[in-house]
Amino acid sequence: MNFKQIEKYAKENNIPIMQKTGIEFLTKYINDNNIKNILEIGSAIGYSAIKMALANDKVKVTTIEKDDDRYLMAIKNIKEFDLDKRITLVHADALDINLEGKYDLIFIDAAKGQYIRFFDKYSKNLAKNGVIISDNMEFHGLVEQEERIASKNLRQLVNHIRDYIEFLKSNAEFNTTFYKIGDGISVSLRNE
Ligand SMILES: C[S@@+](CC[C@H](N)C(=O)[O-])C[C@H]1O[C@@H](n2cnc3c(N)ncnc32)[C@H](O)[C@@H]1O
Repeated sequence: MNFKQIEKYAKENNIPIMQKTGIEFLTKYINDNNIKNILEIGSAIGYSAIKMALANDKVKVTTIEKDDDRYLMAIKNIKEFDLDKRITLVHADALDINLEGKYDLIFIDAAKGQYIRFFDKYSKNLAKNGVIISDNMEFHGLVEQEERIASKNLRQLVNHIRDYIEFLKSNAEFNTTFYKIGDGISVSLRNE
């Protein structure tokens, strides 16, 4: 599949992938900051991993996906882009495994209720001067108007994101900037 086909497949099968403006921000960030090693939590079908790997040919991505079907589709897509040497796909729940590597960028884009746990667990894998970037900080604009959400599940999810935002704001070890780009992106730099 090419990018257009991946986007169409994701839409038709309700697979949430990054918005175009969000992924453009990420790839520019990678190039501007000389990022080489990336860890992504939440591959889905490989869309953002492929886009990040194509930012430039020095980039290497390790990406974790727990869902069987999405993992298999991601493998297929990564192969089709001939990126299997630069993208390592890990089939696991990110909270159940331990990785040894150090990464210049850790990109969190998985279960919204677990963002604080992903952040705490994987910040030990952050290289010196590394950055943790998270997606969906606005969740379709709902984070700023949580009271108006009728569905309990959705309200809960939005509250998780609010908790994560508070966690980032009060985290003394990291300095976080929030961008109104794509679905809302946070960029957390460790105070060295
Ligand atoms: C928003 S999608 C990722 C989209 C992808 N980053 C992109 O933009 O192309 C989130 C994915 O994270 C996966 N996921 C959720 N919790 C996870 C966990 N604890 N470990 C690994 N994968 C997880 C889900 O199965 C889902 O496919």
